[in-house]
Amino acid sequence: MPGIVIVGTQWGDEGKGKIVDALSSQVDMVVRYQGGNNAGHTVVLGKEVFKFHLLPSGVIYPHVVPVIAAGVVVDLEVLFREIDELERRGYSAEKLVISGNAHLVMPYHRKFDALSEKKLGKQAIGTTRRGIGPTYADKAARIGIRVQDLLDEKIFCQKLEAALKEKNRILTKVYGEKPFSVEEIVESFFQYRDKIEKRVVDSSLLINQYLDEGKTVLFESAQGTFLDLDYGTYPFVTSSNPIAGGACVGAGVPPKKINKIIGITKAYVTRVGSGPFPTEDFGPEGETLARLGMEYGTTTGRKRRCGWLDIVLLKYAAMLNGLDFIALTKLDVLSAFEKIKICVAYEYQGKTYEVYPLHQSVLHKCRPIYEEIDGWQEDISKIKQFDKLPKKARDYVKRIEKLVGIPVVAVSVGQERQQILLPYGKINLWEE
Ligand code: GDP
Ligand code: IMO
Ligand code: MG
Repeated sequence: MPGIVIVGTQWGDEGKGKIVDALSSQVDMVVRYQGGNNAGHTVVLGKEVFKFHLLPSGVIYPHVVPVIAAGVVVDLEVLFREIDELERRGYSAEKLVISGNAHLVMPYHRKFDALSEKKLGKQAIGTTRRGIGPTYADKAARIGIRVQDLLDEKIFCQKLEAALKEKNRILTKVYGEKPFSVEEIVESFFQYRDKIEKRVVDSSLLINQYLDEGKTVLFESAQGTFLDLDYGTYPFVTSSNPIAGGACVGAGVPPKKINKIIGITKAYVTRVGSGPFPTEDFGPEGETLARLGMEYGTTTGRKRRCGWLDIVLLKYAAMLNGLDFIALTKLDVLSAFEKIKICVAYEYQGKTYEVYPLHQSVLHKCRPIYEEIDGWQEDISKIKQFDKLPKKARDYVKRIEKLVGIPVVAVSVGQERQQILLPYGKINLWEE
């Protein structure tokens, strides 16, 4: 009954897509449990590059059942564009199923996302403008529209009319914008109805059945721990719960059915959008990380902010998620550096913080305390075994293990599926 959660331990873009893909040969089902098409998960197979926004990253394996669970917010236009694109490239999304309880991202959600960012001005969150926050807000306010509502035209229209009554008033009266028309939305959504009907399931029932039959289910998070609505750097967060606990809620599985939790950690740190980032490097080293790591957003193309690995964050992520293992990605990007920094604590107003600070002001204003490690300065991207890495690269990995107290079971040294080293041998997903 192995349920394995894959979770980002930083601010997203840790390489979750790559690791989910690498593990998918061993699993029967891959479940996206939260977020929406704010996510961008990259999988590279030779010359082929896939950028998944809503589809679970295991979708390209014919034996895998991809599931979009109840905790996800679904933009149907994006979903079907992604499916069509995949099929055009000769892959099938035939097995994809979608929870009837997942909420729909509506056109007015995208509009409100953009308007709210504009209104915030300098205080803007830097959202992906995909309507994610407004969709989750409507879900919590109980005025959202769910995938299953599409199966009943009367209910869909009733809910849409009720929602639009209020939305249109705000749009016209507060923002001076044009109102949305019920008819236009109904028409555009009903083109998807037949296509979606055959895919709508009780995903919680299906996932639990798989687990009870002893099959292996991978739960793929979007975003990362510090973008978590409750535990991240609020308000500079997303509107869902990427942390491992979110997998239980988002997928409808009990905590006792989760056997392993793997944290995906970039060998340095990136962040897109606003918010505190203690180890951000504004100098040439940050630039080098961005250039060599090709740190441009998979979804919005924005340049990612870059900085050094932050152990204070990572230790907190290990605790919040209950990490069993770490998969360390993009180690190859650090090959360029003579010295590599690891942040082991923060200093603020004469006080040293080794534990994630209670007050977020500390994160905004602190000075990172670094340990410096010698770089290895040679290409490691073609190395096939962990033991063959230069000693200094192994030392860096071992130092992270020691500081966080969690084994690093996979080290990624390039974008490709094969560019992964396993310090402890094959990851045994079955081990209790
Ligand atoms: P995700 O959102 O966590 O799935 O990560 P993204 O796909 O948004 O960003 C990670 C980027 O790093 C992608 O372009 C990956 O192809 C790339 N990547 C993943 N692992 C490695 C690695 O070990 N080395 C290098 N150089 N690139 C990697
Ligand atoms: P993956 O799954 C990195 C960031 C946005 C913004 C904040 C809120 O690829 O790791 P939202 O549109 O969610 O309301 O934006 O969260 N953000 C991400 N940053 N990777 C992601 O996803 C992200 N999804 C959202 O940049 O700062
Ligand atoms: Mg991404």
